[in-house]
Amino acid sequence: MSKMWGGRFNKGTDALTDDFNSSISFDQRLYKQDIKGSIAHAKMLGKQGIISVSESELIVKTLDEILEDIEAGKIEFSIDMEDIHMNIESILTERIGETGKKLHTGRSRNDQVATDMRLYVKDISMELKDLIRALGLTLLDMASKHTKTIMPGYTHLQRAQPITFAHHLMAYVEMFRRDMKRLDQVYDMADTLPLGSGALATTTYPLDRYYVASELGFKNVSMNSLDGVSDRDFCIDFLEAVSVFMMHLSRFSEEIILWCSSEFNFITLDDAFSTGSSIMPQKKNPDIAELVRGKAGRTYGDLLGFLTTMKGIPLAYNKDMQEDKEPVFDAYDTAKICAITFEKMIGTMTVNGEVMRKSAAGGFSNATDAADWLVKHGVAFRDAHAIIGKLVFYALEKGKSLDELTLEEYNAVDPVFDESIYEAIDLQTCVNQRDIVGGPAESTVRRAIAVNRSLFQKA
Ligand code: ARG
Repeated sequence: MSKMWGGRFNKGTDALTDDFNSSISFDQRLYKQDIKGSIAHAKMLGKQGIISVSESELIVKTLDEILEDIEAGKIEFSIDMEDIHMNIESILTERIGETGKKLHTGRSRNDQVATDMRLYVKDISMELKDLIRALGLTLLDMASKHTKTIMPGYTHLQRAQPITFAHHLMAYVEMFRRDMKRLDQVYDMADTLPLGSGALATTTYPLDRYYVASELGFKNVSMNSLDGVSDRDFCIDFLEAVSVFMMHLSRFSEEIILWCSSEFNFITLDDAFSTGSSIMPQKKNPDIAELVRGKAGRTYGDLLGFLTTMKGIPLAYNKDMQEDKEPVFDAYDTAKICAITFEKMIGTMTVNGEVMRKSAAGGFSNATDAADWLVKHGVAFRDAHAIIGKLVFYALEKGKSLDELTLEEYNAVDPVFDESIYEAIDLQTCVNQRDIVGGPAESTVRRAIAVNRSLFQKA
């Protein structure tokens, strides 16, 4: 088939060139954005008298029909037409002849593809944001059921201080809230119309770029044509936002994997979201969490791969930039399936609250509170730290917890101790006394849940 740009060539392209050069196998995903952009361009050409109003109307009507036909699965794209832009233009021309050939007036594929990608990234940023919102709302529901469920909080994966399961879950809610904000920022970065930049130096036709921007819902119009066609920062911003979100999901997955091991036994995953082993009959594996953790690496690859693609490209458009699509598509597909599946997996898991509480009770997680009791009774914190350290050493030898030591045993280390130490190191007290902003106390976490619920609902 002859190429749209075939005029200055003596012979056709090698089949290998067609295969290698074409992007239709993956950029057909942009058909909606491409048609939307073309419709706005055609309307503007008509309004500006660059083509006649009747030509503009025929183009718009036919593009609408092509859109319907694509959605009905009636269109087969052709590799000879390279990409989605030329495929749609050639279908248009097949249908309406000479008039179809006028659509590309004052436009280049360079500003067309940049426009399509921006429309697409705006769309997927909001779609992903909605999935993260759903995940956050599920966590908020779970958190409100577990504001009294004591568990150990960790540093260095060693039991540190008692918290609640709600408080732990709410840490992820904070991360996901930032992820949503990051996607808003991506939307903002993509919200500039490049169409009108032409191939690189705009055009001599009196285009009305502001009209096209408002038709397409862009907030801004690009101010430099070279940058207009060659800026892919918004793709990198999207890939970065996805990578950070996947890093959060991956950390959460790691915890799920630990928690459902027999060693922790803090949670039990639902059978519907676990898998078995082909050889070991007893196994129930957290494959979903492992895959999510694994796929985080894949999205980092998308980010780093495309950053590397962009680093050596002179202005303005170069074909290297066709490589923006697959990483963006892959990162989106990956984050989407991970967000959906992860939400279902945690939404159906069982929380073994009693095991969590016992673990918090067993690991001296109230030692800081014992030291704080001494401080409140006139001992300097450094001395208090040393005294409780001695008590912990003693208790470890006896195989007891701090609560199980008798008052005589306390007094043998320091006579200042009295009965009130037991109330002070009760796990519930330890948690509920930490009621400053950001703390695990039930009242504080309930407030954080309420604040986040309204932020998640309206963000
Ligand atoms: N398929 C191309 C891309 O994705 C479209 C732009 C092609 N422009 C060009 N001058 N070859 O980047």
